[in-house]
Amino acid sequence: GKILLLNGPNLNRLGKREPDVYGHETLKDVEEQVRQLVETKHYHLDAKQSNHEGDLIDWIQAAEGEYSGIIFNPGAYTHTSIAIRDAIGSVTVPVIEVHISNVHKRESFRHVSMLAPVCAGQIVGLGTKGYQLAAIYLLEEKE
Ligand code: DQA
Repeated sequence: GKILLLNGPNLNRLGKREPDVYGHETLKDVEEQVRQLVETKHYHLDAKQSNHEGDLIDWIQAAEGEYSGIIFNPGAYTHTSIAIRDAIGSVTVPVIEVHISNVHKRESFRHVSMLAPVCAGQIVGLGTKGYQLAAIYLLEEKE
């Protein structure tokens, strides 16, 4: 089986971007940690990042039938994108929404997720560990 790790806008700057909020690990570090975990269960990980809404939509659509789950940090599109919500709603592959920071402790515009109602679940505020926890969930669901 295969799992898709998707990261949205500005997450390419992980490690350099507001380290007090998002930590010092880079996106490459995070992708490697999740890959190792997924491979111990003999699954394959594909990891993609884009700053462009349309790329994320294309990848979600293409995931149908290809992946058993998507681990997705949509960045700020979480709070704005009806188009990404519709893409998630259009596929049957389960999507776990991940946020590194505790969005509920931050500005009120981060308290609302446009995507949560169409996601299988949400992991918020547990740092980059949240990506691994999402992987554990998806791998156990498939056993
Ligand atoms: C984020 C939270 C969002 O509000 C923000 O726009 C991000 C990162 C997080 O991982 O905590 O880009 O998704």
